[in-house]
Amino acid sequence: MRRFSSDYLTDTRRGMWADRSALAPLALDSRTRILDVGCGTGELTRVLREETDGEVVALDADRALLDEADADYRALGDATRLPFCDDAFDLVVCQALLINLPDPRVAIEEFARVSSDRVACVEPDNAAVTVESSVEAESPLAKRARDTYIAGVETDVTLGSSAAALFREIGLADVESRRYEHERVVEPPYDEAALEAAKAKAAGTRIAEQAPTLRRGGLSPEAVDELKNEWRAMGRDVVEAMAAGTYERRAVVPFYVVAGQVDAVGESGESGESDAASESDAAGEKRD
Ligand SMILES: C[S@@+](CC[C@H](N)C(=O)[O-])C[C@H]1O[C@@H](n2cnc3c(N)ncnc32)[C@H](O)[C@@H]1O
Repeated sequence: MRRFSSDYLTDTRRGMWADRSALAPLALDSRTRILDVGCGTGELTRVLREETDGEVVALDADRALLDEADADYRALGDATRLPFCDDAFDLVVCQALLINLPDPRVAIEEFARVSSDRVACVEPDNAAVTVESSVEAESPLAKRARDTYIAGVETDVTLGSSAAALFREIGLADVESRRYEHERVVEPPYDEAALEAAKAKAAGTRIAEQAPTLRRGGLSPEAVDELKNEWRAMGRDVVEAMAAGTYERRAVVPFYVVAGQVDAVGESGESGESDAASESDAAGEKRD
């Protein structure tokens, strides 16, 4: 299982749900019992609790992260074998979980089993991330590293844009997909997280952590070292520009909120397609 630090989740979700319009298909104001699967530190759990009068249960396989989630109930468990009976919730949802699972379909089927009404996910398409930076080398380097990582990673980290098709394949009805953009901006005055991120770039931390995946993505060990050296040089330029107060960076991560209705599961045709299925795009604000 891919592991995440509490700091990473807190930092990358900051401001993510300032605009909650993309969550409309979840009909949060009418829910009585919601399950947030793969809740991590509870970044989505908190939003769910603010938007519903119903109970919110948070589940994760990582005990340390789960302990930080503020929920009505917490459950340690596996998304692909949920420890709940059929129809125990009227909404089962996850955020940035499916992109980390080897077989996301199994999890969605479990979501449908324990939900009596709606199943939803909030997932990014990491292939469509864009980065603009005042340090010239940053954008092309970030794209090179990201493309190679995606080629080597063993789960579908671009799943957001195809999640609606997966929902329909398993027989969910009335599937709706909304795309919105999570924007992360770094500009003066820099906060502690931005300063730490710059230091990590100058140390080449991320490239070192991702080295096995980058090698699977086609880079030789020498090419990984070369990428790391270029990354560190870029990081030093970022640190220098921050000291001068001239560094600016804007990253946009497209997320998809996908929701479907469970009552047709097992009753639809082989393809699971529904005449009522619809897909709409709505730009909003997000970050990752
Ligand atoms: C990228 S984090 C997302 C956390 C949170 N939903 C958020 O958006 O901040 C993915 C989470 O899924 C959890 N996870 C991964 N595989 C899991 C599984 N099979 N069952 C339950 N949780 C899992 C991880 O421990 C981690 O907390």
